[in-house]
Amino acid sequence: MNRRKFIDLFLGGSLIGTFIAFLYPTISYLLPTKQIEVVIKKITAARLGELAPNTSKIFKFGTSPGILINTSDGELRAFSAICTHLTCTVIYEEDTGTILCPCHNGRFDLGGNVVSGPPPAPLESYNVEISGEDIVVSKKG
Ligand code: FES
Repeated sequence: MNRRKFIDLFLGGSLIGTFIAFLYPTISYLLPTKQIEVVIKKITAARLGELAPNTSKIFKFGTSPGILINTSDGELRAFSAICTHLTCTVIYEEDTGTILCPCHNGRFDLGGNVVSGPPPAPLESYNVEISGEDIVVSKKG
């Protein structure tokens, strides 16, 4: 192998190496990564006595917000806090005793059913049970 052929091979190899060094991170960035999703079916949303009647609490149910409501009758109800219209987080409106989505004024009753506004479907409702001192919320089904 003469000097010229050696330099050609060396430069060609360097060029290919540089190309791969730029190409690999670009392709890695563009391709979606595999994510492990943990599905949470049951969670302690609050402690007993934490919620006064006619109040609510937003809690974290896995990666989504949930809403726990202690009605004025002292009944505990829990729903997904994600509005079924465009996924805003809903709040409990104590004055009216309804669940309000402040984004587009969507309104739900305490059964999670749509009362008014643009939401196309009711809120996902959760089971609520008391376990010792904990208020445990779980997905139905
Ligand atoms: S996002 Fe809730 S009413 Fe539009």
